[in-house]
Amino acid sequence: MRVLSGIQPSGHAHWGNYFGAIKQYIELQYADSAFYFIANLHALNTIRDAEELRANTFDTALDLLALGLNPENAHLFVQGDVPQVSELCWLLLTGAPMGLLERCVSYKDKIAKGQKANAGLFAYPVLQAADILAYDADTVPVGEDQAQHIEVCRDLAQRFNHHFGEVFVLPKAKLLTATAKVPGIDGEKMSKSYGNHIEIFEPPKPMRKKIMRIPTDSRPMEEPKKPEDDHLFQLYSLFASEAGRDEMAARYRRGGFGYGEVKKALADKAEAYFAEAREKRADLAAKPEQVREILAAGGAAARAKAGEVLRRAQEACGVK
Ligand code: ADP
Ligand code: TRP
Repeated sequence: MRVLSGIQPSGHAHWGNYFGAIKQYIELQYADSAFYFIANLHALNTIRDAEELRANTFDTALDLLALGLNPENAHLFVQGDVPQVSELCWLLLTGAPMGLLERCVSYKDKIAKGQKANAGLFAYPVLQAADILAYDADTVPVGEDQAQHIEVCRDLAQRFNHHFGEVFVLPKAKLLTATAKVPGIDGEKMSKSYGNHIEIFEPPKPMRKKIMRIPTDSRPMEEPKKPEDDHLFQLYSLFASEAGRDEMAARYRRGGFGYGEVKKALADKAEAYFAEAREKRADLAAKPEQVREILAAGGAAARAKAGEVLRRAQEACGVK
């Protein structure tokens, strides 16, 4: 099994990103072969500031390494360090029907939200297809929102193979578990764009403050409460052991406690949960050269593989 996924360098990752995606990527790094990259070319559609893009790319590498991505198991690299992918993207673009891309929900959503209709945004799924096909990846872990893009990738690969011969491996999406829809501090889905998020590496003090300010209902302390309906309980469950979660659920059902206690327990658990990663991140941040070396080695491995696949595609379609 060859696993591959791309992560947008969209700033500091939050709890939703971690439990919904990063944690699951890291668990998959032990596949026979794993490629994870930071999608800075895709991000150029939204981040139009060179320093910001560079800093976010580096921060994302720090986050992934601190949270347990081990470069001995998985190649970690930056998308823009593999020019073969952009060349492959062109080969795929020449066979990509407009209608197929026009049907992409994520493109339509972004336009509806006011993003400019650039050709880069429109061709986004084709670059994503090149990202996947360049490494002969067969398993692509992604969130539900990306499932359609993997279908587009399969469609483009099939068209190319049909026309020019068996060049590309057809990948399959591995949908990340939807059970982990992490709520934000307001109870809606946690998202940077709603401003209801808590960053993984937020310093403990502001993190605690944010948790203590989570709005809760004003029912009296004695009243028994349903844990399933409460976003504070859902957040607590992310960090607690099964026994800890059951115990907290029982307290909710009994009543006679204050939300302040749950908030404090949540802050303690979250702080302890990420303590080791926090330390590792600080360590790595102090040695940027080491991080750059990891990315350089990942990039070299990625270019070697993508070069092979690009050559195959170029020969098949007659540009080489
Ligand atoms: P944001 O909504 O903050 O911009 P992204 O869309 O960049 O987050 O998220 C990247 C990935 O992280 C998504 O594909 C999804 O798998 C995961 N993710 C983000 N927010 C959540 C959440 N609240 N619950 C579960 N998973 C999430
Ligand atoms: N589009 C993906 C996202 O926004 C990131 C991405 C880029 C990706 N290329 C990829 C994911 C290839 C999987 C495979 O989350």
